[in-house]
Amino acid sequence: MAIERTFSIVKPDAVAKNVIGEIYTRFERAGLKIIASKMIHMSKEQAEGFYAEHKERPFFGALVEFMTSGPVMVQVLEGENAIAANREIMGATNPQEALRGTIRADYAVSVDENAAHGSDAPESAAREIAYFFSDEEICPRTR
Ligand code: TYD
Ligand code: MG
Repeated sequence: MAIERTFSIVKPDAVAKNVIGEIYTRFERAGLKIIASKMIHMSKEQAEGFYAEHKERPFFGALVEFMTSGPVMVQVLEGENAIAANREIMGATNPQEALRGTIRADYAVSVDENAAHGSDAPESAAREIAYFFSDEEICPRTR
């Protein structure tokens, strides 16, 4: 299996619920390594650029408003099949449809405030990692 990197966000609702550590623990339990991490409060421009693929969708304005409503944790996760593994840990976009024991089932209440983001493909992972992290900020494990 391939070692991949994926980009992840602990969204403002989950930071407000004080469950950053609980979510990080789930990444670690699944064998995903946190190789970059920081807390940021996104600007409107940053959030709009990050979610550019959704700019024609009806929820875009509310999504940008939510993502800029408070601080978030952004991180790079590395591990076997990291992109799919992280999507599995997160659960479905709509927490009502998310499997029990997933981040969204446990910490999110609605599709518009759903606790976590995870890249959906290798191309988006590469773009999203580079959007928030410089090469110097990424620290692959040497042991
Ligand atoms: P999307 O990329 O479809 O979901 P995911 O985060 O699982 O990759 O949508 C991006 C975000 O947009 C989603 O996490 C929450 C928001 N969103 C809504 O607010 N309403 C919606 O109906 C959808 C589909 C998404
Ligand atoms: Mg998506």
